[in-house]
Amino acid sequence: DLDSVEVFDGICFPGYLHSPESLQAACAFQFQDTDVLLATFPKSGTTWMQQILSLIFCEGDLRPIHHCPSWARMPWLEHISFQGFLAQMDPARPRLLTTHLQARALAPALKKSNARVVYVARHPKDVLVSFYHFHRMASFLPDPSSFQDFVDKFLEGKGFYNSWFDHVKEWLSLLQDLNMLFVTYEELHQEPRRALRKLSEFLGRPLGVQEEDLILGHSSFSFMRQSRAANYSLVPREIMDPARSPFLRKGVVGDWQEHFTPEQNEKFNAVYQAKMSDCSVCLPWS
Ligand code: PPS
Repeated sequence: DLDSVEVFDGICFPGYLHSPESLQAACAFQFQDTDVLLATFPKSGTTWMQQILSLIFCEGDLRPIHHCPSWARMPWLEHISFQGFLAQMDPARPRLLTTHLQARALAPALKKSNARVVYVARHPKDVLVSFYHFHRMASFLPDPSSFQDFVDKFLEGKGFYNSWFDHVKEWLSLLQDLNMLFVTYEELHQEPRRALRKLSEFLGRPLGVQEEDLILGHSSFSFMRQSRAANYSLVPREIMDPARSPFLRKGVVGDWQEHFTPEQNEKFNAVYQAKMSDCSVCLPWS
């Protein structure tokens, strides 16, 4: 049901993609040391990092990049569809997984293994803008009544997936306890090759310069925007309507400046300061 809401641990998830059983199963998932888990708050660069990770692990075989949709290559642990995708994974290769769950839901399961976690975060004002447009195009999320209302809900942490602030703080508080790498959307944007090298080192997958070029080319915004396996055009229009807003919408840093009024910006900054003052990592967005 497109309109249903699944509340789990006080957090609202789209009922179209989640069930109590799928959420509980995610928390009890048995990770393997070879697993790679991509964790993000929505709209932080998930699809982009899914593309990069799939490419790092593709071993020269680009067929899945062209023909297998990103959500099947790197399925979300907590989605209803997860068990089906898991069953199709090659047991001889590292499993590439995705989650939007908060850290507290997955930390106990993750701590039982040495699985790698890549946490991607993005400037929260750009996350908000991207999420706003995503709410307009995805029918499993409610249409925002106004941008102002959306800003208020985001700052209160009362929207779907709740608080960006808590998501980032909780995951980053585990940076030392888990086998985890922190990457920002902005560094992927500004220094893609450097970010790629940081990733390949963390993953223990050294890359030659030609491989790097191939990965950078196939994870560029322009490539992904026209790729049916990365741009969500395989999803029926009734579920995601690109005429309202394309999934790969702009792919830039700082689009918030086109959306925020000075008052909204001031309020956002005040909430950011208050909420992030106890963050364990020094973040570039203050
Ligand atoms: S989701 O629904 O949580 O999986 O969304 P997510 O993939 O995290 O976020 C979508 C935004 O990421 C942008 N994107 C990219 N930007 C730059 N380069 C590449 N290759 C790329 N791929 C995806 C996408 O355009 C969305 O951001 P906005 O600001 O809306 O354009």
